[in-house]
Amino acid sequence: MSHVLHRNLQQQPPRASAGEGAYVIDSNGKRYLDGCGGAAVSCLGHSHPALIKAAQQQIETLPYAHTSFFTTDVMEELADTLVAGAPGMGKVLLVSGGSEAIEAALKLSRQYFVEKGEMTRHLFIARRQSYHGNTLGALAVGGNDWRRKHFAPLMVPGNHISPCIAYRGMRDDETPEQYGQRVADELDAKVLELGAGNVAAFVAETVVGATAGAVPPVPGYFKRIRDICDQHGIHLILDEVMCGTGRTGSMMAYEQEGIVPDIVTMAKGLAAGYQPIGALLCRRELTDVIRAGSGFFQHGHTFMGHATAVATSLATLQVIEKENLLDNVISQGDAIRARLYAELGEHENVGDVRGRGLFIGVEFVADRETRAALDPTHKTHNLVQNNAFANGLLCYGMGGTIDGRSGDHVLIAPPYNISNKQADDLVDKFVAAVTATFANR
Ligand SMILES: Cc1ncc(COP(=O)(O)O)c(C=O)c1O
Repeated sequence: MSHVLHRNLQQQPPRASAGEGAYVIDSNGKRYLDGCGGAAVSCLGHSHPALIKAAQQQIETLPYAHTSFFTTDVMEELADTLVAGAPGMGKVLLVSGGSEAIEAALKLSRQYFVEKGEMTRHLFIARRQSYHGNTLGALAVGGNDWRRKHFAPLMVPGNHISPCIAYRGMRDDETPEQYGQRVADELDAKVLELGAGNVAAFVAETVVGATAGAVPPVPGYFKRIRDICDQHGIHLILDEVMCGTGRTGSMMAYEQEGIVPDIVTMAKGLAAGYQPIGALLCRRELTDVIRAGSGFFQHGHTFMGHATAVATSLATLQVIEKENLLDNVISQGDAIRARLYAELGEHENVGDVRGRGLFIGVEFVADRETRAALDPTHKTHNLVQNNAFANGLLCYGMGGTIDGRSGDHVLIAPPYNISNKQADDLVDKFVAAVTATFANR
């Protein structure tokens, strides 16, 4: 019996033993086309020579140096590269994953206000159906019931408004823009309810990932959100842990919204899964206030700025640029979505095909007309994922799409360097998995 505390304590997962380009190979030699990169992580496949070389070289030179003693060339260069690709951002904190980046974002926002003497600003507002990580602070701001409910007594209270999910929330008499204004205005109402002087920040995923299934905002939504934040003097923290680093076709997903946040977080694809890493980027003004005050951001972790992770991340960004991969993200994303519409658009149990770039969500329903959810006890998202798995395709199924309990979707997030043939194979295998799942109903 395994001593590993696996996620599912009643099942032993198959053993992955190798990776080759877009494929993961298990211990029996079976090959799986990696259509989701784990959880949108492996954005350059599993054997890219430039990433392997970067990690190896850094280990040979200096694997790790504690950030309270040293900076490193690779950390300075990665920060320069990230800032150059993220409009409006001026400083970078490098951590080990997405939850750490969110924790740091919450603390940075709070400390900024403390240093400015706005001591009462301590509350965070986020959206239902968002996921910001599993550490207690990140879980507290997140809005996914299923993930939160066991741990609710341990968490600071969360303050949540509606998400921006047109497929579920837009009324028949609204345009997408009107719907966006309506749900954005909930932020204004919530700030007033809590008292503007008590609120530090609003936190949102620019494109919602795991919990709702690749949902882009409607046009104008984030512009209105930005205005409301400015009006009340609160920070806008965008969580791009999943949708950032080029996943939606631009390095930062917020570039497509025509706004600049105060803080943005990244992780997942930042070192393409070759090393664990996360990042917080912020506007210069936030750190200027702290520099002029205590001079010290009161937050740290042992593995911050880990040199090997940082060198691998730098190589990841260089490969994305050198191989022109954002173009491929856009064209392959459009092509996959178009084929999914063509093959599944009329399927009675496919409610919505959506996403941006190579961040694609398919939502399943019991009835296309009414958009009624499937029986959650059937865990249809798992059935689709399992049928795809049996057929040699990895995709990421998730339940609770609508309210944390009901609703099913599957996320597709293949590598940025996916070929035409692999993209076709992905769609063929996915369509076969959906057909098999609903065949006997
Ligand atoms: C949007 C978002 N934020 C934060 C996190 C937490 O990241 P990590 O699992 O690296 O801690 C995730 C992970 O899925 C995520 O999707």
